[in-house]
Amino acid sequence: MKLIQVKDYQEMSQKAADIVIEKVKTNPQIQLGLATGGTPEGLYDRLIADHKENHTSYEQVKSFNLDEYIGLSSTNPNSYHYYMAHTLFNHIDINQEDTNLPNGTAENIQEECVRYDEMIDKMGGIDLQILGIGQNGHIGFNEPGTSFASKTQVVDLAQSTIEANARYFNSIDEVPTQAVTMGIASIMKSKEIILLVSGVAKSEALKQLIDGDITEEFPASILKNHQNVTIIADQDALSKVH
Ligand code: F6R
Repeated sequence: MKLIQVKDYQEMSQKAADIVIEKVKTNPQIQLGLATGGTPEGLYDRLIADHKENHTSYEQVKSFNLDEYIGLSSTNPNSYHYYMAHTLFNHIDINQEDTNLPNGTAENIQEECVRYDEMIDKMGGIDLQILGIGQNGHIGFNEPGTSFASKTQVVDLAQSTIEANARYFNSIDEVPTQAVTMGIASIMKSKEIILLVSGVAKSEALKQLIDGDITEEFPASILKNHQNVTIIADQDALSKVH
């Protein structure tokens, strides 16, 4: 794993945006794996600003998101469909039909999981996957204990994840308790991965990722086995790493 140390959230977002923009320019048909949550918002803001200013085009780009809550439709403001539309897709020239997220309201959710993995494989896989990390080491919504061999699957969210994500909902009771997420094996198929880590709340997780063993009890640790991972971390996130 390569580690890029930056000062703060702004610098992390800018660094990530510089890399993504460069890659989109070099390979206009790039297939991007995208994350939601607080961490990539600054990255997406910068991609939008660059698109407006420098006209970097996403017309041929395809995107695949990591996860979606079970039971939230794409029009629900707390769904990741809605987040992606409003945080990025509506502001750049990517074709809506080239953006993909798991369908958390699919009638047959098991079939949906199989379909999602097959679709990514059939399209040639993800060139660059953007990841955040949970305080408990989750990637996607693969919580501690998830098999490293897992494919796209339905998962129960850990209580700490429900609590962390409650900030987006009116009350903690509204946070779905299940999600569909790309599995660990699905994520590891990506040709390149950028993991963004910012803030003191992630410092323990980052320390464990860097210093700890590879174990299913800490899902992100599998990234050590990937050939092409770059961590971009700010000072607060790095505060416990020596
Ligand atoms: C989001 C995702 C999650 C988040 C993680 C960190 O699509 O897959 O793994 O990246 O929960 O969330 P934030 O960035 O809100 O701290």
